[in-house]
Amino acid sequence: MNFLGTLLTLCVLVPSAHFADSSIAWCYNLPTCNDTTWPTIATVSCNGSRQSPINIAPGSVQTDPNLNAFTLNNFDSPIAMDTIANTGKTVQINLVRGLSISGGGLSENYDTLQLHLHWGRGASVPGSEHTLNGRRYPMELHIVNSKASYNRNTTLAVADSTGLAALGFLIEEMEGNTTGQPASWQTLSSYLARIPNGGDSVLVTAGVSLNDLLPGVDTTRYYRYLGSLTTPTCDEAVVWTVFKDTIKVSRDVIDRFSSMLHIDNSTSPLMVNTYRNLQPALRVTTQVNSSASKACFSLGLMVLSVLLGRP
Ligand SMILES: *[C@@H]1O[C@H](CO)[C@@H](O)[C@H](O)[C@H]1NC(C)=O
Ligand SMILES: *[C@@H]1O[C@H](CO)[C@@H](O)[C@H](O)[C@H]1NC(C)=O
Ligand SMILES: *[C@@H]1O[C@H](CO)[C@@H](O)[C@H](O)[C@H]1NC(C)=O
Ligand SMILES: *[C@@H]1O[C@H](CO)[C@@H](O)[C@H](O)[C@H]1NC(C)=O
Ligand SMILES: *[C@@H]1O[C@H](CO)[C@@H](O)[C@H](O)[C@H]1NC(C)=O
Ligand SMILES: *[C@@H]1O[C@H](CO)[C@@H](O)[C@H](O)[C@H]1NC(C)=O
Repeated sequence: MNFLGTLLTLCVLVPSAHFADSSIAWCYNLPTCNDTTWPTIATVSCNGSRQSPINIAPGSVQTDPNLNAFTLNNFDSPIAMDTIANTGKTVQINLVRGLSISGGGLSENYDTLQLHLHWGRGASVPGSEHTLNGRRYPMELHIVNSKASYNRNTTLAVADSTGLAALGFLIEEMEGNTTGQPASWQTLSSYLARIPNGGDSVLVTAGVSLNDLLPGVDTTRYYRYLGSLTTPTCDEAVVWTVFKDTIKVSRDVIDRFSSMLHIDNSTSPLMVNTYRNLQPALRVTTQVNSSASKACFSLGLMVLSVLLGRP
């Protein structure tokens, strides 16, 4: 790619990465720009009172009967992934139009825009953003969604306290001496060799759906709180969902993320420990257990049958 091409790619990709303000030179690992400095270099919200990520203490969450099951529209599509990019801060997969989520206690339909990851330094140095009972997991996947009524305008979405809905999945090392598992994650990680430098981006070949990346996750079981973007400008616009079930990925696949991607060019540091430190705990809720919500659902159907005059 020529120089102008590189510049254009950077200009397009950087702002879309977590909707970060590209004019702010923030980072994860240098004393001059790490997350302790974000409140001063990005004063918009990083010093706010509903900041993410947080530790979730399952013992102190409250149940909320409004937290029903999600509907994940087109998450089974094998042609949903458009491009995969090294943004210099994360690896991000931009999605085609047509994916959305609803239910899950959300007030309306949200368009699914992109997914990206946070990680540590290999499977043995964890780098999830949310922690569960104080435990940090090797990686975390975020699927970012924006209120459909804003028609993908993220400026409007971040100005609304519930403008974005983020789905967080904790990634755990798969047990046993497995390699290259699951196949979906093996395929995804095979792209990393083609995007070694910040600003690199390639097209994703059809074949892997979003659901393929979520094996073993029961999406009816989750925690909920109102928080923020976990990168500057830390806008307090995010309805957070952190799923109870983890995604199990084999060690060699986890290790690739922290060993193949440079922040800038081949002489600049590798992207490691790409997570924000914990913020003060907020009120976390969870859904009533599924047996209870299923009972309500059957009751609802019974009432409906009675109204329709059916036996
Ligand atoms: C982050 O920055 C602060 C203040 O500049 C510094 O004290 C701290 O050591 C830095 N932490 C890391 C992990 O670089
Ligand atoms: C952040 O907020 C705290 C408490 O509200 C305040 O003491 C501190 O000065 C603020 N920092 C910045 C950089 O605004
Ligand atoms: C998003 O909405 C704002 C406010 O209405 C508008 O100024 C801006 O041009 C919109 N952005 C895009 C990309 O449409
Ligand atoms: C794990 O598998 C590799 C080959 O895939 C083998 O070389 C290694 O000895 C195995 N380690 C253990 C602890 O079983
Ligand atoms: C590589 O990136 C570093 C910053 O990490 C920068 O200082 C250096 O100038 C870059 N080199 C080239 C050839 O672009
Ligand atoms: C969940 O279900 C179990 C039995 O299936 C019940 O004992 C428990 O109280 C329920 N918890 C909530 C929060 O409804």
